[in-house]
Amino acid sequence: MSKQGSFNSKVGVVLAAAGSAVGLGNIWKFPYMVGENGGSAFLLVYMLCCLLIGLPIMVAEFSIGKRAGVGIYNAYHTLTGNKRWQWMGAMGFVVSLLLLSFYSVVTGWCLEYLFDSVTGHINNSNPEELSQFFGSFVGSVRPIIWGLISLWLTAAISWFGVKSGIERMSKLLMPLLLVLLFLLIVRALMMPGSDIGMRFLFMPDFSKINPTVVLNAMGQAFFSLSVGMGVILTYGSYMPKSQDIMATSLQVTVLDTLVAILAGLAIFPAVFAMGVSPTEGPQLVYVILPTVFDQMSGGMFWASLFFLLLALAAVTSLLSMLELPVSYLMDWLHLTRRKAIALLLILLSISMAACAYSMTGKAPWLCPMGYSLFDCFDTLTSKIFMPLGGLAMTIFVGWVCPRHDTEDELNRHSRVHAKWAYDLFFFLIRFVIPVAILIIFADGLDIF
Ligand code: PHE
Repeated sequence: MSKQGSFNSKVGVVLAAAGSAVGLGNIWKFPYMVGENGGSAFLLVYMLCCLLIGLPIMVAEFSIGKRAGVGIYNAYHTLTGNKRWQWMGAMGFVVSLLLLSFYSVVTGWCLEYLFDSVTGHINNSNPEELSQFFGSFVGSVRPIIWGLISLWLTAAISWFGVKSGIERMSKLLMPLLLVLLFLLIVRALMMPGSDIGMRFLFMPDFSKINPTVVLNAMGQAFFSLSVGMGVILTYGSYMPKSQDIMATSLQVTVLDTLVAILAGLAIFPAVFAMGVSPTEGPQLVYVILPTVFDQMSGGMFWASLFFLLLALAAVTSLLSMLELPVSYLMDWLHLTRRKAIALLLILLSISMAACAYSMTGKAPWLCPMGYSLFDCFDTLTSKIFMPLGGLAMTIFVGWVCPRHDTEDELNRHSRVHAKWAYDLFFFLIRFVIPVAILIIFADGLDIF
């Protein structure tokens, strides 16, 4: 069994989990999902999904890891005494590899934009020029090089282990990123016409809610909160015994949602002020933000700082994703931490390169059914496997583990002692969430 690392402090756990949750999902993906799914209506459904589905699953996932005290390969076995649930660990392992492959590509995009901001390459460009720039960049092999740099950087930090690597990075970055987002919001709100963006984001138009929007919002909630795969479980196994799971989960969920909304506030006023379509898709922030920075004095400096912080926020998420397969391989194949990292690095370098290359349009064989591998991995992870994993975890904690064991673990170190809070948690975990996930799935994938 792997020698478990552990975090130094309770604050360290909150920050590391927040470092996992806050990343490209909030600042790159959330805005374009809002844009493509009808604005405020999506935001509303998304927040409900975070609160009623994502948060309880995070509590459940932390509780599995913390109670078991071992990584995902052995956790289910340790808690039940039989191997029937081990497939959940294996599924998390595979999904984490898919996620790492495409996430490191997008982290590489940040590094390219960091480089271009520092060298002044994208200064004084309008959204149209930036859109062309993005297209030609993604169509080249440069994303592969930057993707490799992202992966190797992550592996290098992980090489030094849980405490010194992950915890220290997370403590530093989060507050800085928030400050920069505030600056961006102030500048974006000063643009004429920005009020349309505010309305787009905050005036709910219920007619825009349909099954696809709900499925997308649920997928985004899983992705953004890092739940349903086993990453939170792995971090749960590193928690100090006296950690309050309920409070930690609430803090992480609130912070993550806050950062997403701040990113929306920084981007949509500018989108509408500049007459750009909110349905631009994955390139949205890369087209909008450089233009907003251009309008600030010292824009080049701020843009560079922003892309640096975004890349680092992405790296803290990558670190958490990598921790899952590392711990899995250590327990499964009895490898040392460093051997596991080296093996994964080889594998991931190949799958990341395939992902990035599938977007160039030069490799139709990397595009099953006309969708690039990048899109396939993205859709498979957030819209299918993470909700499925979440569903399995709710069934595991709600129906397989005895309630008093979980409740005891949650209650013992918690400031929350009200009985109704636990009743509500188990009601959500046992009935509401499994049914909701199944209905959203069936409806969104048009199974009926
Ligand atoms: N939550 C991260 C983000 O928003 C992505 C992530 C997903 C990280 C799953 C770990 C596990 O960017």
